[in-house]
Amino acid sequence: MERAKLDWSNLAFQYVKTDYHLEYYFKDGKWSEANIVESDRVELHIAATALHYGQQCFEGLKAFERADGRVSVFRVDENAKRMKRSAEKILMEPFPEDKFIEAVFKVVQLNRRFVPPYGSGASLYVRPLLIGTSGVIGVKPSTEYMFLIFVMPVGPYFKGGLKPIRLLVEEEIDRAAPLGVGDVKVGGNYAAGLRASHKAKSLGYNEVLYLDAKHKKYIDESGPANFFGITQDNKYVTPASSSILPSITNMSLRTLAEDELGMKVEQRPIDVEEIFDFKEAGCCGTAAVITPVKSIKYRDREVTYLQGDEVGPVCRKLYDTLTGIQLGTVEDKYGWNF
Ligand code: COI
Repeated sequence: MERAKLDWSNLAFQYVKTDYHLEYYFKDGKWSEANIVESDRVELHIAATALHYGQQCFEGLKAFERADGRVSVFRVDENAKRMKRSAEKILMEPFPEDKFIEAVFKVVQLNRRFVPPYGSGASLYVRPLLIGTSGVIGVKPSTEYMFLIFVMPVGPYFKGGLKPIRLLVEEEIDRAAPLGVGDVKVGGNYAAGLRASHKAKSLGYNEVLYLDAKHKKYIDESGPANFFGITQDNKYVTPASSSILPSITNMSLRTLAEDELGMKVEQRPIDVEEIFDFKEAGCCGTAAVITPVKSIKYRDREVTYLQGDEVGPVCRKLYDTLTGIQLGTVEDKYGWNF
């Protein structure tokens, strides 16, 4: 295999065309086998439910080249499960979990030359997508679906990698409702977040920190990522909320915080006032990995956790342990790598 010629250490989180993607079609009650496609265009019915009524969901996971030259994907079984939950919540035909895992392996193998080299700090981002394809103009579920999966080599989601970011607490825009679809990975949640992110960026912040839509009191998501804080007595605290996406990275960090760092972990409603007592905070997700939070602005007060580009010791240790497991330099005693 000759590796693609890319500037691996300077990749951004952006689309790069690779060699192939896979498509599977659900028709007459069953899923097809994989169709290997070179083009990065799809043709859709103009009345497809995905286009009009947002009947779609997606996933995000990463593949890594390890020190021994093999490639592994991280917790793909959890992404398969989560996509099933997302699909069921908006009445789509779920893509079978075993087929999902097979599809991830296959698309990574087909695009092996785009897996960033070990040590580059980059990874191969895998994007599975499920869309309703029937031409139905009434608001009802599609009867036909397409599952497609593509990959691209990526660098860090927030420019600068493990570089601290500034957050702005948003009180005028909600991302998701408590009994809505904020807890599944549907595109509409991300469209709903564009305006708040844009506002935060135009005011000089990197991302927005949402409050829960009902009480406007508890912390919810942080842009497209989960949020966690480290308390003065060294607890890892992260919001419990019906409107945030259950991040697989956050789930992994809770395990690592408890088992490897000997911390107490609390998943509970977090009053926004608690930010003023944290000693560290971070955003986490597949794309964001762990992004340390430098400061948070809430109304007329701003709390600063970090000076310059420094990274707090807890975030640093969590980051090193998680990425070490992904790259095969820290023992994977949990069986997270496939
Ligand atoms: C991820 O972390 O994988 C996401 O899907 C977040 C964002 C890039 C949409």
